[in-house]
Amino acid sequence: MNPVTVNVSLAGQRGYPVQIGPGLLGELGGFVAGLGSVSRAAVISDSTVAELYGAAAVESLRSAGLAADLLAFPAGEANKTLARFAGLFDGLFALDPAVDRSSVIVALGGGVAGDMAGFVAATALRGLRWVQAPTTVLADVDASVGGKTAVDHPAGKNLVGAFHQPRGVLIDTETLRSLPPRQVRNGLAECVKHAVIRDAELLDWLKRFAAPLAQTPHAPQMTELLARNVAIKAAVVESDERESGVRQHLNFGHTIGHAIEAAAGYDQLLHGEAVSLGMVAAMHLAAGRGLIGSEDLRRVERLLSGLDLPVRRAGLDFDALWRIMLHDKKNRAGRVRMVLPVRLGAVEVFDDATRGELAAAVSRLAGERSDTDPDA
Ligand SMILES: NC(=O)c1ccc[n+]([C@@H]2O[C@H](COP(=O)([O-])OP(=O)(O)OC[C@H]3O[C@@H](n4cnc5c(N)ncnc54)[C@H](O)[C@@H]3O)[C@@H](O)[C@H]2O)c1
Ligand SMILES: [Zn+2]
Repeated sequence: MNPVTVNVSLAGQRGYPVQIGPGLLGELGGFVAGLGSVSRAAVISDSTVAELYGAAAVESLRSAGLAADLLAFPAGEANKTLARFAGLFDGLFALDPAVDRSSVIVALGGGVAGDMAGFVAATALRGLRWVQAPTTVLADVDASVGGKTAVDHPAGKNLVGAFHQPRGVLIDTETLRSLPPRQVRNGLAECVKHAVIRDAELLDWLKRFAAPLAQTPHAPQMTELLARNVAIKAAVVESDERESGVRQHLNFGHTIGHAIEAAAGYDQLLHGEAVSLGMVAAMHLAAGRGLIGSEDLRRVERLLSGLDLPVRRAGLDFDALWRIMLHDKKNRAGRVRMVLPVRLGAVEVFDDATRGELAAAVSRLAGERSDTDPDA
Protein backbone atom coordinates (compact mmCIF):
# COMPACT_ATOMS: atom_id res chain seq x y z
CA MET A 1 0.00 0.00 0.00
CA ASN A 2 1.30 3.43 -0.91
CA PRO A 3 1.78 5.93 1.86
CA VAL A 4 -0.66 8.81 2.18
CA THR A 5 0.73 12.32 2.63
CA VAL A 6 -1.04 15.10 4.51
CA ASN A 7 0.66 18.49 4.28
CA VAL A 8 0.76 20.81 7.25
CA SER A 9 0.86 24.27 5.64
CA LEU A 10 2.31 26.98 7.83
CA ALA A 11 3.53 30.47 6.97
CA GLY A 12 7.20 31.21 6.30
CA GLN A 13 8.13 27.85 4.80
CA ARG A 14 7.61 26.10 8.09
CA GLY A 15 5.13 23.65 6.60
CA TYR A 16 5.95 19.97 6.40
CA PRO A 17 4.58 16.64 5.14
CA VAL A 18 3.09 13.94 7.34
CA GLN A 19 3.49 10.60 5.57
CA ILE A 20 1.39 7.67 6.76
CA GLY A 21 1.64 4.02 5.78
CA PRO A 22 3.19 0.62 6.49
CA GLY A 23 6.97 0.30 6.38
CA LEU A 24 7.85 3.99 6.46
CA LEU A 25 10.56 3.50 9.08
CA GLY A 26 12.59 1.98 6.27
CA GLU A 27 12.29 5.29 4.38
CA LEU A 28 13.56 7.36 7.30
CA GLY A 29 17.15 7.57 6.07
CA GLY A 30 16.15 8.64 2.58
CA PHE A 31 13.78 11.26 3.97
CA VAL A 32 16.36 12.75 6.36
CA ALA A 33 19.14 12.72 3.76
CA GLY A 34 16.71 14.40 1.36
CA LEU A 35 16.43 17.41 3.66
CA GLY A 36 19.85 18.42 2.30
CA SER A 37 23.25 19.22 3.85
CA VAL A 38 22.90 16.53 6.51
CA SER A 39 25.77 14.31 7.60
CA ARG A 40 24.66 13.22 11.07
CA ALA A 41 21.42 12.25 12.73
CA ALA A 42 20.66 11.40 16.34
CA VAL A 43 17.62 9.25 17.13
CA ILE A 44 16.03 10.00 20.51
CA SER A 45 13.65 7.38 21.86
CA ASP A 46 12.32 5.91 25.07
CA SER A 47 13.72 2.62 26.35
CA THR A 48 10.74 0.51 25.20
CA VAL A 49 10.57 1.87 21.67
CA ALA A 50 14.37 2.00 21.36
CA GLU A 51 14.43 -1.73 22.02
CA LEU A 52 11.69 -2.43 19.45
CA TYR A 53 12.51 -0.04 16.59
CA GLY A 54 15.76 1.79 17.42
CA ALA A 55 17.98 -0.50 15.39
CA ALA A 56 15.70 -0.25 12.31
CA ALA A 57 15.74 3.56 12.50
CA VAL A 58 19.52 3.76 12.85
CA GLU A 59 20.03 1.19 10.10
CA SER A 60 17.84 3.16 7.70
CA LEU A 61 19.76 6.38 8.42
CA ARG A 62 23.15 4.70 8.03
CA SER A 63 22.21 3.05 4.78
CA ALA A 64 21.39 6.53 3.47
CA GLY A 65 25.01 7.45 4.18
CA LEU A 66 24.47 9.36 7.44
CA ALA A 67 26.25 9.02 10.75
CA ALA A 68 23.50 7.88 13.11
CA ASP A 69 23.25 6.93 16.77
CA LEU A 70 20.48 6.12 19.20
CA LEU A 71 19.99 7.94 22.52
CA ALA A 72 17.38 6.45 24.86
CA PHE A 73 15.82 7.53 28.14
CA PRO A 74 13.62 5.40 30.44
CA ALA A 75 10.03 5.12 29.13
CA GLY A 76 7.09 6.82 30.80
CA GLU A 77 5.62 10.24 31.50
CA ALA A 78 7.45 10.24 34.86
CA ASN A 79 10.67 10.63 32.87
CA LYS A 80 9.55 13.65 30.82
CA THR A 81 11.64 15.78 33.17
CA LEU A 82 14.28 18.47 33.01
CA ALA A 83 16.75 16.01 34.55
CA ARG A 84 16.23 13.40 31.80
CA PHE A 85 16.24 16.18 29.20
CA ALA A 86 19.63 17.37 30.48
CA GLY A 87 20.86 13.78 30.41
CA LEU A 88 20.09 13.55 26.70
CA PHE A 89 22.51 16.43 26.02
CA ASP A 90 25.29 14.50 27.75
CA GLY A 91 24.77 11.74 25.20
CA LEU A 92 24.25 14.13 22.29
CA PHE A 93 27.42 16.14 22.82
CA ALA A 94 29.52 13.00 23.33
CA LEU A 95 28.69 11.66 19.84
CA ASP A 96 31.48 11.10 17.36
CA PRO A 97 31.37 12.51 14.72
CA ALA A 98 30.09 15.48 16.69
CA VAL A 99 26.71 17.09 16.36
CA ASP A 100 26.75 20.41 14.52
CA ARG A 101 24.22 22.90 13.17
CA SER A 102 23.54 20.69 10.14
CA SER A 103 22.61 17.65 12.25
CA VAL A 104 19.07 16.32 12.40
CA ILE A 105 17.26 14.97 15.48
CA VAL A 106 14.82 12.09 14.96
CA ALA A 107 12.05 11.61 17.55
CA LEU A 108 11.14 7.91 17.66
CA GLY A 109 8.29 6.89 19.97
CA GLY A 110 5.09 8.11 21.55
CA GLY A 111 4.25 11.60 22.68
CA VAL A 112 6.77 11.51 25.51
CA ALA A 113 9.69 10.76 23.19
CA GLY A 114 8.33 13.30 20.69
CA ASP A 115 8.13 16.04 23.29
CA MET A 116 11.58 15.29 24.70
CA ALA A 117 13.31 14.93 21.34
CA GLY A 118 11.53 17.96 19.93
CA PHE A 119 12.61 20.11 22.84
CA VAL A 120 16.18 18.86 22.45
CA ALA A 121 15.95 19.87 18.78
CA ALA A 122 14.49 23.28 19.72
CA THR A 123 17.34 24.07 22.08
CA ALA A 124 20.50 22.15 21.08
CA LEU A 125 22.92 24.57 19.40
CA ARG A 126 20.03 27.10 19.43
CA GLY A 127 17.87 24.90 17.26
CA LEU A 128 18.36 21.87 15.00
CA ARG A 129 16.11 20.45 12.31
CA TRP A 130 14.05 17.48 13.44
CA VAL A 131 11.88 14.69 12.06
CA GLN A 132 9.20 12.82 13.96
CA ALA A 133 8.62 9.07 13.72
CA PRO A 134 5.67 8.61 16.09
CA THR A 135 4.75 5.10 17.26
CA THR A 136 1.53 5.56 19.27
CA VAL A 137 -1.92 6.43 17.91
CA LEU A 138 -1.99 9.41 20.27
CA ALA A 139 1.28 10.76 18.92
CA ASP A 140 0.21 9.99 15.33
CA VAL A 141 -3.01 12.00 15.46
CA ASP A 142 -2.11 14.68 17.97
CA ALA A 143 1.58 15.32 18.69
CA SER A 144 2.62 14.96 15.04
CA VAL A 145 0.97 18.27 14.14
CA GLY A 146 1.57 21.64 15.73
CA GLY A 147 5.22 21.79 16.71
CA LYS A 148 4.67 21.87 20.45
CA THR A 149 7.56 20.46 22.47
CA ALA A 150 7.93 20.38 26.26
CA VAL A 151 8.96 18.64 29.42
CA ASP A 152 7.09 18.52 32.72
CA HIS A 153 7.94 20.41 35.91
CA PRO A 154 6.85 19.47 39.44
CA ALA A 155 4.50 22.50 39.23
CA GLY A 156 2.66 21.00 36.24
CA LYS A 157 2.74 19.18 32.92
CA ASN A 158 4.42 20.66 29.83
CA LEU A 159 5.47 23.84 31.64
CA VAL A 160 8.92 24.12 30.04
CA GLY A 161 9.04 23.96 26.27
CA ALA A 162 9.00 25.65 22.89
CA PHE A 163 7.20 25.74 19.57
CA HIS A 164 9.51 24.11 17.02
CA GLN A 165 8.06 22.65 13.83
CA PRO A 166 9.54 19.39 12.51
CA ARG A 167 10.69 19.06 8.86
CA GLY A 168 8.52 16.04 8.38
CA VAL A 169 6.64 13.23 10.10
CA LEU A 170 6.86 9.58 9.07
CA ILE A 171 4.13 7.42 10.60
CA ASP A 172 4.93 3.74 10.08
CA THR A 173 1.66 1.96 10.83
CA GLU A 174 3.55 -1.33 11.21
CA THR A 175 4.99 -0.03 14.48
CA LEU A 176 1.45 -0.10 15.92
CA ARG A 177 1.56 -3.93 15.87
CA SER A 178 3.34 -3.90 19.22
CA LEU A 179 1.26 -1.14 20.82
CA PRO A 180 -0.91 -2.48 23.67
CA PRO A 181 -4.68 -2.22 22.92
CA ARG A 182 -5.23 0.13 25.86
CA GLN A 183 -2.73 2.52 24.29
CA VAL A 184 -4.47 2.23 20.91
CA ARG A 185 -7.82 3.14 22.49
CA ASN A 186 -6.12 6.02 24.29
CA GLY A 187 -5.36 7.55 20.90
CA LEU A 188 -8.80 6.70 19.49
CA ALA A 189 -10.30 9.00 22.15
CA GLU A 190 -8.59 11.95 20.43
CA CYS A 191 -10.03 10.72 17.10
CA VAL A 192 -13.53 10.85 18.60
CA LYS A 193 -12.72 14.37 19.78
CA HIS A 194 -11.70 15.41 16.26
CA ALA A 195 -14.94 13.98 14.89
CA VAL A 196 -17.10 15.85 17.40
CA ILE A 197 -15.37 19.19 16.82
CA ARG A 198 -15.08 19.03 13.01
CA ASP A 199 -16.47 15.97 11.22
CA ALA A 200 -19.77 14.31 12.15
CA GLU A 201 -19.32 11.80 9.31
CA LEU A 202 -16.14 10.56 10.99
CA LEU A 203 -18.34 9.50 13.91
CA ASP A 204 -20.12 7.05 11.59
CA TRP A 205 -16.81 5.83 10.23
CA LEU A 206 -15.49 5.27 13.75
CA LYS A 207 -18.65 3.41 14.71
CA ARG A 208 -18.11 0.98 11.82
CA PHE A 209 -14.35 0.53 11.86
CA ALA A 210 -12.71 1.71 15.06
CA ALA A 211 -13.40 -1.14 17.51
CA PRO A 212 -11.61 -3.79 15.38
CA LEU A 213 -8.68 -1.40 14.92
CA ALA A 214 -8.01 -1.56 18.66
CA GLN A 215 -7.13 -5.24 18.08
CA THR A 216 -5.40 -4.91 14.69
CA PRO A 217 -4.05 -1.35 14.67
CA HIS A 218 -1.76 -2.07 11.72
CA ALA A 219 -4.76 -2.84 9.44
CA PRO A 220 -4.98 -0.75 6.24
CA GLN A 221 -7.94 1.21 7.61
CA MET A 222 -5.64 2.72 10.21
CA THR A 223 -3.86 4.65 7.46
CA GLU A 224 -7.16 6.24 6.46
CA LEU A 225 -8.10 7.01 10.06
CA LEU A 226 -4.74 8.59 10.86
CA ALA A 227 -4.79 10.63 7.64
CA ARG A 228 -8.27 12.00 8.36
CA ASN A 229 -7.29 12.94 11.89
CA VAL A 230 -3.97 14.49 10.95
CA ALA A 231 -5.84 16.53 8.33
CA ILE A 232 -8.35 17.78 10.91
CA LYS A 233 -5.65 18.76 13.38
CA ALA A 234 -3.58 20.34 10.60
CA ALA A 235 -6.51 22.45 9.43
CA VAL A 236 -7.06 23.75 12.96
CA VAL A 237 -3.37 24.47 13.58
CA GLU A 238 -2.92 26.11 10.17
CA SER A 239 -5.61 28.64 10.97
CA ASP A 240 -4.26 29.37 14.46
CA GLU A 241 -0.68 28.31 14.98
CA ARG A 242 -0.17 30.08 18.32
CA GLU A 243 -3.39 29.03 19.96
CA SER A 244 -5.27 32.30 20.28
CA GLY A 245 -8.56 31.31 18.65
CA VAL A 246 -9.92 28.16 17.01
CA ARG A 247 -7.03 26.01 18.22
CA GLN A 248 -8.86 26.08 21.54
CA HIS A 249 -11.43 23.81 19.89
CA LEU A 250 -8.90 21.00 20.34
CA ASN A 251 -9.47 21.39 24.09
CA PHE A 252 -12.95 19.87 23.77
CA GLY A 253 -13.26 17.34 26.60
CA HIS A 254 -9.99 18.51 28.12
CA THR A 255 -11.15 21.03 30.75
CA ILE A 256 -12.95 18.45 32.86
CA GLY A 257 -10.76 15.65 31.47
CA HIS A 258 -7.51 17.27 32.62
CA ALA A 259 -9.00 17.89 36.05
CA ILE A 260 -10.07 14.24 36.34
CA GLU A 261 -6.63 13.10 35.10
CA ALA A 262 -4.78 15.34 37.56
CA ALA A 263 -7.04 14.52 40.50
CA ALA A 264 -6.73 10.78 39.85
CA GLY A 265 -2.94 10.98 39.63
CA TYR A 266 -1.27 10.57 36.28
CA ASP A 267 -0.62 6.86 36.76
CA GLN A 268 -4.32 5.99 37.20
CA LEU A 269 -6.03 7.03 33.98
CA LEU A 270 -4.47 7.41 30.57
CA HIS A 271 -4.93 10.84 29.03
CA GLY A 272 -7.42 9.61 26.43
CA GLU A 273 -9.45 7.85 29.10
CA ALA A 274 -9.74 11.06 31.09
CA VAL A 275 -10.64 12.96 27.90
CA SER A 276 -13.35 10.39 27.19
CA LEU A 277 -14.94 11.20 30.54
CA GLY A 278 -14.38 14.91 29.94
CA MET A 279 -16.13 14.76 26.57
CA VAL A 280 -19.16 13.00 28.06
CA ALA A 281 -19.38 15.59 30.87
CA ALA A 282 -18.97 18.51 28.44
CA MET A 283 -21.75 17.06 26.27
CA HIS A 284 -24.03 16.82 29.31
CA LEU A 285 -23.31 20.48 29.97
CA ALA A 286 -24.04 21.33 26.33
CA ALA A 287 -27.26 19.29 26.42
CA GLY A 288 -28.25 21.12 29.61
CA ARG A 289 -27.92 24.38 27.70
CA GLY A 290 -29.98 23.02 24.84
CA LEU A 291 -27.02 23.27 22.42
CA ILE A 292 -27.29 19.60 21.45
CA GLY A 293 -29.94 16.95 21.93
CA SER A 294 -29.72 13.97 24.24
CA GLU A 295 -29.56 11.66 21.19
CA ASP A 296 -26.32 13.40 20.11
CA LEU A 297 -24.90 12.77 23.54
CA ARG A 298 -25.94 9.12 23.56
CA ARG A 299 -24.43 8.58 20.11
CA VAL A 300 -21.00 9.75 21.23
CA GLU A 301 -21.30 7.88 24.51
CA ARG A 302 -22.14 4.64 22.70
CA LEU A 303 -19.17 5.11 20.42
CA LEU A 304 -16.79 5.69 23.33
CA SER A 305 -18.04 2.77 25.38
CA GLY A 306 -17.91 0.57 22.25
CA LEU A 307 -14.20 1.40 22.16
CA ASP A 308 -13.87 0.38 25.83
CA LEU A 309 -13.23 3.97 26.80
CA PRO A 310 -14.72 5.04 30.13
CA VAL A 311 -17.95 7.07 30.09
CA ARG A 312 -18.77 6.69 33.78
CA ARG A 313 -16.60 7.01 36.87
CA ALA A 314 -17.69 6.65 40.45
CA GLY A 315 -16.22 8.55 43.36
CA LEU A 316 -15.22 11.78 41.61
CA ASP A 317 -14.64 14.59 44.12
CA PHE A 318 -16.17 17.64 42.44
CA ASP A 319 -14.59 20.13 44.86
CA ALA A 320 -11.15 18.83 43.94
CA LEU A 321 -11.96 19.03 40.22
CA TRP A 322 -13.34 22.56 40.64
CA ARG A 323 -10.16 23.76 42.34
CA ILE A 324 -8.07 22.36 39.47
CA MET A 325 -10.34 23.93 36.83
CA LEU A 326 -10.34 27.36 38.50
CA HIS A 327 -6.57 27.29 38.74
CA ASP A 328 -6.39 27.64 34.95
CA LYS A 329 -5.49 31.23 34.10
CA LYS A 330 -8.08 31.32 31.31
CA ASN A 331 -10.87 31.13 33.85
CA ARG A 332 -12.15 34.37 35.32
CA ALA A 333 -14.47 35.34 38.15
CA GLY A 334 -15.55 31.83 39.05
CA ARG A 335 -16.57 31.00 35.48
CA VAL A 336 -14.80 28.32 33.48
CA ARG A 337 -13.99 28.42 29.77
CA MET A 338 -15.43 25.40 28.00
CA VAL A 339 -15.46 24.18 24.41
CA LEU A 340 -18.97 22.88 23.78
CA PRO A 341 -20.58 21.22 20.76
CA VAL A 342 -23.33 23.26 19.12
CA ARG A 343 -24.13 20.22 16.96
CA LEU A 344 -22.13 17.08 16.16
CA GLY A 345 -19.17 18.24 14.06
CA ALA A 346 -19.07 21.84 15.34
CA VAL A 347 -18.01 23.47 18.60
CA GLU A 348 -17.77 26.96 20.06
CA VAL A 349 -15.86 28.45 22.98
CA PHE A 350 -17.96 29.58 25.96
CA ASP A 351 -16.43 31.65 28.78
CA ASP A 352 -19.21 31.30 31.27
CA ALA A 353 -19.66 27.75 32.53
CA THR A 354 -20.78 28.03 36.16
CA ARG A 355 -19.88 25.92 39.15
CA GLY A 356 -23.45 24.65 39.25
CA GLU A 357 -23.44 23.56 35.61
CA LEU A 358 -20.10 21.82 35.96
CA ALA A 359 -21.15 20.07 39.17
CA ALA A 360 -24.30 18.83 37.45
CA ALA A 361 -22.34 17.63 34.40
CA VAL A 362 -19.73 15.81 36.51
CA SER A 363 -22.44 14.23 38.65
CA ARG A 364 -23.83 12.61 35.48
CA LEU A 365 -20.56 10.66 35.21
CA ALA A 366 -21.48 8.80 38.40
CA GLY A 367 -24.94 7.84 37.12
CA GLU A 368 -26.36 5.00 35.08
CA ARG A 369 -25.00 4.66 31.60
CA SER A 370 -27.58 6.19 29.31
CA ASP A 371 -26.47 3.93 26.44
CA THR A 372 -27.69 0.92 28.42
CA ASP A 373 -30.77 2.70 29.76
CA PRO A 374 -33.84 0.90 28.35
CA ASP A 375 -35.71 4.23 28.18
CA ALA A 376 -32.92 5.91 26.27
N1 LIG B 1 3.44 17.93 21.50
C1 LIG B 1 2.15 17.75 21.37
O1 LIG B 1 1.48 18.41 20.58
C2 LIG B 1 1.48 16.69 22.18
C3 LIG B 1 0.17 16.33 21.88
C4 LIG B 1 -0.42 15.32 22.63
C5 LIG B 1 0.28 14.72 23.65
N2 LIG B 1 1.55 15.11 23.93
C6 LIG B 1 2.31 14.46 25.00
O2 LIG B 1 2.40 13.09 24.67
C7 LIG B 1 2.53 12.32 25.85
C8 LIG B 1 1.62 11.13 25.74
O3 LIG B 1 1.94 10.41 24.57
P1 LIG B 1 1.72 8.85 24.45
O4 LIG B 1 0.35 8.51 24.88
O5 LIG B 1 2.19 8.44 23.11
O6 LIG B 1 2.65 8.28 25.62
P2 LIG B 1 4.09 7.57 25.63
O7 LIG B 1 5.02 8.23 24.71
O8 LIG B 1 4.50 7.45 27.05
O9 LIG B 1 3.76 6.12 25.07
C9 LIG B 1 2.92 5.26 25.80
C10 LIG B 1 3.61 3.93 26.13
O10 LIG B 1 3.67 3.13 24.95
C11 LIG B 1 5.00 2.70 24.69
N3 LIG B 1 5.10 2.61 23.24
C12 LIG B 1 5.16 3.62 22.36
N4 LIG B 1 5.11 3.17 21.11
C13 LIG B 1 5.03 1.83 21.18
C14 LIG B 1 4.91 0.79 20.23
N5 LIG B 1 4.81 1.07 18.92
N6 LIG B 1 4.86 -0.48 20.66
C15 LIG B 1 4.88 -0.76 21.99
N7 LIG B 1 4.96 0.18 22.95
C16 LIG B 1 5.02 1.46 22.55
C17 LIG B 1 5.87 3.73 25.34
O11 LIG B 1 7.14 3.21 25.65
C18 LIG B 1 5.06 4.08 26.58
O12 LIG B 1 5.31 3.14 27.59
C19 LIG B 1 2.23 13.25 26.99
O13 LIG B 1 3.42 13.58 27.63
C20 LIG B 1 1.63 14.48 26.32
O14 LIG B 1 1.89 15.67 27.04
C21 LIG B 1 2.16 16.07 23.21
ZN1 LIG C 1 -5.53 15.40 24.49
